[in-house]
Amino acid sequence: MKIAVTSASGQLGTAIVKQLKKEIGKENVIGIARTPQKAKHLDVEIRKGDYNNRQDFDKALQGVDAVLLVSGMDHPQKRIQQHRNVIGAAKQNGVQKIVYTSIVGDENKTAFSPVVQSNRATEKDVRASGLEWVIGRNGIYIEPDLEYINNYVKEGEIRNCAADGRCAYTSREELGCAYAQMLLNTKHNGQVYNLVGEAITQAELAEIINQVYHTNLTYNPISVEAYENERKEALGDFIGTIIAGIYEGIKIGLNDVSSDFEKATGRQHKTAFEMIKAIKNL
Ligand SMILES: NC(=O)c1ccc[n+]([C@@H]2O[C@H](COP(=O)([O-])OP(=O)(O)OC[C@H]3O[C@@H](n4cnc5c(N)ncnc54)[C@H](OP(=O)(O)O)[C@@H]3O)[C@@H](O)[C@H]2O)c1
Repeated sequence: MKIAVTSASGQLGTAIVKQLKKEIGKENVIGIARTPQKAKHLDVEIRKGDYNNRQDFDKALQGVDAVLLVSGMDHPQKRIQQHRNVIGAAKQNGVQKIVYTSIVGDENKTAFSPVVQSNRATEKDVRASGLEWVIGRNGIYIEPDLEYINNYVKEGEIRNCAADGRCAYTSREELGCAYAQMLLNTKHNGQVYNLVGEAITQAELAEIINQVYHTNLTYNPISVEAYENERKEALGDFIGTIIAGIYEGIKIGLNDVSSDFEKATGRQHKTAFEMIKAIKNL
């Protein structure tokens, strides 16, 4: 069985490739990457695949039994056609199964909703493809908060607009474990899984970071409008608006969802403390 993973040079694609190598051996795993040289370190066969280029995928998916489609990073409306290039090539080239990395969230309620809408549109395309399929809806990654830790320490606080909302975080490593099983095991076919861990508040997140990193952070909520303005100034309009939309979603409960992680993997998701400790020790 040959399994291909798109966006293999990225952090999520890399985590999935690593887990698949453990499960089925490197000779059965193919990494597809827009920039193949960035994926060389994975030590598997690498093929070229830019989501904008259908021909790339007609070649890259030859002889592949199952493909993992990592959702794109482009503007939400562009992503739908980009993903169709992969789905269409999979259908035409005899791929039997497609697994798609979607996202937890609501299609209408926040500034993040355009991203959720485009993910739901691809979910529909995946279901209608005629291939065997599995869809994972990823929770928010915990890693970016830890990459940002020096800024939090400098400011002495975690500050955003999530208030008391609970967020079910995950990590790319946990997702790698889940997606490998969803690719390999036919019992997952036709399922949509929320891939998340326990839901925690931002105050609890600050407390866990304090325990693991021996910091002294407090959590301070600000308004959605103030946070959006701050993020737009720091990150530009597109990303700033999306980030503020994510935290607005946490505030109103959109990331406080039940977890299907155990159904996907046969074990419980790591706790936030365990994930943060594991990432610190990397
Ligand atoms: N749940 C969350 O908290 C969260 C946070 C951030 C992102 N995401 C989503 O998670 C997914 C990937 O995350 P990540 O951590 O792997 O991000 P990442 O490390 O930044 O990697 C992004 C990957 O996308 C690839 N890519 C960009 N444009 C492409 C195109 N036109 N065709 C093919 N590949 C393309 C990049 O390839 P190059 O090496 O060529 O640049 C890279 O491999 C994305 O779907 C993103 O929307 C989720």
